[in-house]
Amino acid sequence: MSKKVLVLPGDGIGPEIMTEAERVLRFVDSKFGLNLTIDQGLVGGAAIDAEGTALPQRTFDLAKASDAILLGAVGGPKWDNLPPADRPEKGGLLKIRSELDLFGNLRPAILYPQLADASSLKPEVVSGLDILIVRELTGGIYFGQPRGIRALENGEREGFNTYVYKESEIKRIGRQAFEAARKRGGRLCSVDKANVLEVTMLWREVMIELGKEYPDVELSHMYVDNAAMQLVRAPKQFDVIVTGNMFGDILSDAAAMLTGSIGMLPSASLDINGRGMYEPCHGSAPDIAGQGKANPLATILSVAMMLRYSLAEGGAADVIEKAVEVVLDQGYRTGDIFSEGCQLVSTSEMGDAVLAALQA
Ligand code: NAD
Ligand code: IPM
Ligand code: MN
Repeated sequence: MSKKVLVLPGDGIGPEIMTEAERVLRFVDSKFGLNLTIDQGLVGGAAIDAEGTALPQRTFDLAKASDAILLGAVGGPKWDNLPPADRPEKGGLLKIRSELDLFGNLRPAILYPQLADASSLKPEVVSGLDILIVRELTGGIYFGQPRGIRALENGEREGFNTYVYKESEIKRIGRQAFEAARKRGGRLCSVDKANVLEVTMLWREVMIELGKEYPDVELSHMYVDNAAMQLVRAPKQFDVIVTGNMFGDILSDAAAMLTGSIGMLPSASLDINGRGMYEPCHGSAPDIAGQGKANPLATILSVAMMLRYSLAEGGAADVIEKAVEVVLDQGYRTGDIFSEGCQLVSTSEMGDAVLAALQA
């Protein structure tokens, strides 16, 4: 039976990187006879402009009916002054994550040896880096109620959000992280702020309880401020990190830089059955949108994750990842990962290079 993939390019550099990722997807589809049905939908600012809402019903229906979703990025200055719930981020991206229950966000940070010079850290600190950040994606302070901005009696305004996690939410992300650690290096570091925040005191307790079911996984705990420091001091000490929504958002951008650029970091957002949405960790990069400068590799690597996790096509995923290594070996670099002696290429030229490597 044909499997359905929904492609949601989004805003800013989203359509540019997605054009290249879709070419790669269509190529492996025909090369491996995957028999995919690939649909396109509107999300984010592009959907607001065309239909007045960041997540149109048609997009949502297609998303629900698809086996996997590939998303570019959403947001941009044009929509920044809309009411929070209508904006591309909350009304589009967070809504689709939440409605589809995509609670488990896997963000692998791998340093390709060819990019050791592009990392802002010394080559010996990052060489061989291979860590996985497991970020809870549908709870925590991003979704907690009450939230808002209110007027106080003295006339000043107060902004407020609520940081909450239910035990069941902590358990399911914990299980996903323990399972991932079991398949990798067998070490899991749970990152929290349990010295101050009750919600993360519970987080730590639940992780310790769960750990009893995974005696083969070595569990440790770290406060988030220290974790941020350790990530840039000695990132290779980590195997798998599990953390809440906001800490995971911040730590994964920091981890991205260890790999040379945020333009290299793919992600998978999974529900309890492994159905998922795949997207680069970066945003819509308004500063370089429309200039052919964006690095499409994070999105191309997200295609590989999609094939592996949601479409049971690990072989095709391996081939894409190998092709990315080949183009890096050949010296092709977009501006964000450029170093001396390499060949500076545009977004589409990088896509061409990956396709050429796939065809070779
Ligand atoms: P950003 O990730 O878009 O950009 C941060 C910096 O990284 C910029 O200098 C950008 O040029 C660079 N960059 C990002 N991706 C790149 C790529 N593929 N190739 C080369 N350089 C790249 O973060 P921001 O500037 O904080 O946010 C811009 C907009 O994107 C905001 O509206 C934000 O809400 C949105 N955003 C969306 C997502 C998403 O859709 N998943 C993620 C993060 C931010
Ligand atoms: C990400 C982004 C999103 C997040 C924003 C755009 C809502 O930063 O995917 O990392 O914070 O989850
Ligand atoms: Mn982010």
